[in-house]
Amino acid sequence: MQSINDVSQALLAQVVTSDTPRDILKSSEIKDLYNQIAQLDPSERGAYGKQVNTLKLNLMSAIEVREAELDNATVTPIDISAPWDVNSRPLGLLPTTYGSEHPLMKELSVVIDIFTRMGFAAIESRQIDDDFHMFGALNFPENHPARDGYDTFRTEENFIPPAHTSTMQHRILKDGKARLEAGGQIAAVSYGRVFRNEDVDATHEHTFYQCEGVFVSETATLGDMLGTLRAFFESYYGQALKIKTQPAYFPFVEPGLEFAIERPAALGGKPGEWLEMLGCGMIHPNVLLAAGIDPTQYQGFAWGGGIERLVMLKYGIEDLRHFESGKLQFLRKFV
Ligand code: PHE
Repeated sequence: MQSINDVSQALLAQVVTSDTPRDILKSSEIKDLYNQIAQLDPSERGAYGKQVNTLKLNLMSAIEVREAELDNATVTPIDISAPWDVNSRPLGLLPTTYGSEHPLMKELSVVIDIFTRMGFAAIESRQIDDDFHMFGALNFPENHPARDGYDTFRTEENFIPPAHTSTMQHRILKDGKARLEAGGQIAAVSYGRVFRNEDVDATHEHTFYQCEGVFVSETATLGDMLGTLRAFFESYYGQALKIKTQPAYFPFVEPGLEFAIERPAALGGKPGEWLEMLGCGMIHPNVLLAAGIDPTQYQGFAWGGGIERLVMLKYGIEDLRHFESGKLQFLRKFV
């Protein structure tokens, strides 16, 4: 009778060279070990059974190691000088010609489509701007602490990669002044990348997208703004929504509000679960004045908020960092 130790050593040696290591579990040596149990004195069976089990466990770990080794060996080494499809095929990836639009860009088109159907012009925001458009034109006094709230990056030349799309407000207002004074209205959304010097986590990114709206007429009211925003969100999520606002401070609006929606049950929400979606308010008279618009004759509203947040709620995406990660596993869910 072979000792358990001898059997164990022999089988482990077989595993490391086998192409089908799992078959060794079914070998006759192991069956013999089990058959021997019946021939033992009952008092010895417990200890013996334990030893056989330990042997099996050791064998299993060795088999898993060997299987992983065999798996790796079948991956074709990558030739970094090869044309695009030589490397992607053996790895089971789709050819790169099947590339698709980034989910954020897809959703941004949906957002812009809703606003343009409401009559808003759509303008892409700038990715480099100056202190005047970031702060001065938006009624941030020099050295005002509210400037710190935006964690702005600056270039060595003192340009600013915008921390919000509100940097476009002054341009939209100046551009629309003549139309306004000819009896028309200003109605535009501005969308694009914004940048903040923030620590990155599941809900904060240094780079993200915003969409901003500006509307000015002789009669615009806060009620018009709430109606516009509600119509947008209900259209985007395809269902009726409850909305709520609370006061907030932004130097360029008065009053300023945070706008929240109740997370719909269809998107995993419970009643009373409010999600803050954007900042908004009536455009401050100083902002109109800076663009040469008479605040005693015209009034308007503005709003601005992140695109990622909208999309995360729509698709149940739990981590903001996925968007800029470039991970194909994530991106392919939206093809
Ligand atoms: N720009 C503000 C932000 O990013 C949001 C905002 C836009 C608030 C327009 C009011 C009006 O925090």
